[in-house]
Amino acid sequence: MFPTGFVWGAATSAYQIEGALTADGRGRSIWDTFCSQDGRIVGGDTAEIAIDHFNRYREDVKMMADLGLTAYRFSVSWPRIQPDGSGAYNSKGLDFYKRLVDELLSYGIDPWLTLYHWDLPQALEDAGGWPSRDTSKRFADFAATVHAELGDRVRNWSTVNEPWCAAFLGYASGEHAPGRREPAAALRAAHHLNLAHGLAVQAMRAQNPDSLIGGCVNVYPVTPATDSEADQDAARRIDGLQNRFFLDALLKGSYPEDVLADLSSLSDMEFIHDGDLATIAAPIDMLLINYYSRFTVSGAPGGAASAAAAPTDSGSPWIGSEHVGFVNGGRPVTSMGWEVDDSGLMEMLRRISDEYPRIPLYISENGAAYDDVIGEDGAVHDPERVAYIEAHLRTCHAAIESGIPLQGYFAWSLMDNFEWAWGYGKRFGLVYVDYETQARTMKSSALWYADTIRHGGLLGRAQ
Ligand code: FCB
Repeated sequence: MFPTGFVWGAATSAYQIEGALTADGRGRSIWDTFCSQDGRIVGGDTAEIAIDHFNRYREDVKMMADLGLTAYRFSVSWPRIQPDGSGAYNSKGLDFYKRLVDELLSYGIDPWLTLYHWDLPQALEDAGGWPSRDTSKRFADFAATVHAELGDRVRNWSTVNEPWCAAFLGYASGEHAPGRREPAAALRAAHHLNLAHGLAVQAMRAQNPDSLIGGCVNVYPVTPATDSEADQDAARRIDGLQNRFFLDALLKGSYPEDVLADLSSLSDMEFIHDGDLATIAAPIDMLLINYYSRFTVSGAPGGAASAAAAPTDSGSPWIGSEHVGFVNGGRPVTSMGWEVDDSGLMEMLRRISDEYPRIPLYISENGAAYDDVIGEDGAVHDPERVAYIEAHLRTCHAAIESGIPLQGYFAWSLMDNFEWAWGYGKRFGLVYVDYETQARTMKSSALWYADTIRHGGLLGRAQ
């Protein structure tokens, strides 16, 4: 049994589900541009319709209520609310989120709002994007406005979803929008995403001290393939870029010295101004953790190719450590090729609660893609996803028992959706979506999750 008050949630993001990219005066985002370019998205998929959540949000919220979710994590689309990323706000865009939030509240579902899940207004990219310091300020203004408009009915706020992806997939590997492959610019982007987080926290805190505000990071434990010096150095490097660059900044107000040294040939770091790190480490009320898998790495020359290779032609996100190879750790994989390892979740939770100030932790994303199909009986049987979520929830439970301040869990994702560069080919949902008809069907994992929530804990072994 989980403690009373444990948050049982599911998560989505605006760009992956909404569609309606030109409705009600929405501006263009970097993902609109990216999807229109050849070779960027598997199969040439776009998010024009996605899963039509913009029009079907009532039906979707009703489904959340049927599942018994106590919370729903979603993101707002910046270009829907502020089409050019600066200047005028679009009240019709804000109204959509007010309607959504009111609908959630009418069922007693707690809205958890993420301000940035990767859909930067194209106008801001045209002005330099995240490598430009001004984008952090634009984001803080945007955050303050959304918070002023919705802070009366939304208590739980988070700033930037997974700054690692936004910086390094967007500006180094080019696997994500805006698709740039400029390592030095990616480093600036990473800092400015951290700065954007800190500035937004300060702005929102000043407006409403009752709001609960967090940052959101994606963490991976990193294991060296062998105990050779080269492999251990590779693990230190990848852990530094993936985990410590963000955790240390947000929670300690510093960048790890060894990571800065690894990156010194790329930049003199002049973009880190005095006072930035204090801003970035502005006190937060909670840390949102996205956890999927573990990395095993090798520093040997000619190390194996990435275990989680990008689906499209792209460079390396591991700036300054491009020589590191990602090797197969010998665990079962999901259809993303991501290794299933719930022990890694425990490792990261323990480490975060030991090494950093003890603040409430939430798993804000966790889940798995499998090749689901509707069976002859009209049902979607996804025992592997049930097993995945059950194992990770068991780990959450053990973490709580051991005194780690973990207070909630959000499954990724509520529904199948547009999985970025992978298009619609990868299904992460608890709910199956037929992309032709937009019909929603609860998979067995959804029914299992609903039972778990109703019971307040785990009932038995996965079937
Ligand atoms: C995370 C993203 C989310 C989704 C999952 C599978 O990195 O935050 O939007 O793509 O991975």
